[in-house]
Amino acid sequence: MSGTPEELPEGIVAFGQAGTEKAGRELAALLEPGDLILVEGEVGAGKSTLVRAALRELGVAGAIPSPTFTIGRLYDGPDQRMPVSHLDLYRLGDLAAEEPGLLVEYLGPDRAAFVEWPGGASAHLGEMATRVGRVAIDHIDPESRRIRVELPA
Ligand SMILES: Nc1ncnc2c1ncn2[C@@H]1O[C@H](COP(=O)(O)OP(=O)(O)OP(=O)(O)O)[C@@H](O)[C@H]1O
Ligand SMILES: [Mg+2]
Repeated sequence: MSGTPEELPEGIVAFGQAGTEKAGRELAALLEPGDLILVEGEVGAGKSTLVRAALRELGVAGAIPSPTFTIGRLYDGPDQRMPVSHLDLYRLGDLAAEEPGLLVEYLGPDRAAFVEWPGGASAHLGEMATRVGRVAIDHIDPESRRIRVELPA
């Protein structure tokens, strides 16, 4: 994996939550099993908003609660295009890099994964995935976000 979020292409401007959800759906449509998406952006940028929309597009049914207090959740319902994990490593912090075994159930060649706040675990996560992509979301104003996407490669 190379590049920092600053090096991602200029991206799109998403107006409102619906705009960010559309970006999530479009990204999901391009995903294959084994793909990892690192989702970066400050608190309230819309990371979970984008991921939820992507998970819906992949066929996840039912509630998609925030994984903030659980490290992650693996969704593997019968209507899904592939199993998909949603992780949030904010509270795990450096432990994610020190104990990569905590992450192993969430990634693999048969499943996609979205990771909010990947931080220092990015390299370990990348080793467990087939392809790595990124999303970087920045506030423009209260309703608008700049969303830059590096597709999995
Ligand atoms: N264009 C937009 N895209 C996404 N969210 C938006 C947008 N405009 C307003 N919002 C609001 O911003 C908030 C984004 O919350 P969300 O939980 O998705 O952020 P997050 O990046 O996951 O935060 P955290 O770092 O706490 O996990 C929501 O309340 C949403 O309604
Ligand atoms: Mg979030």
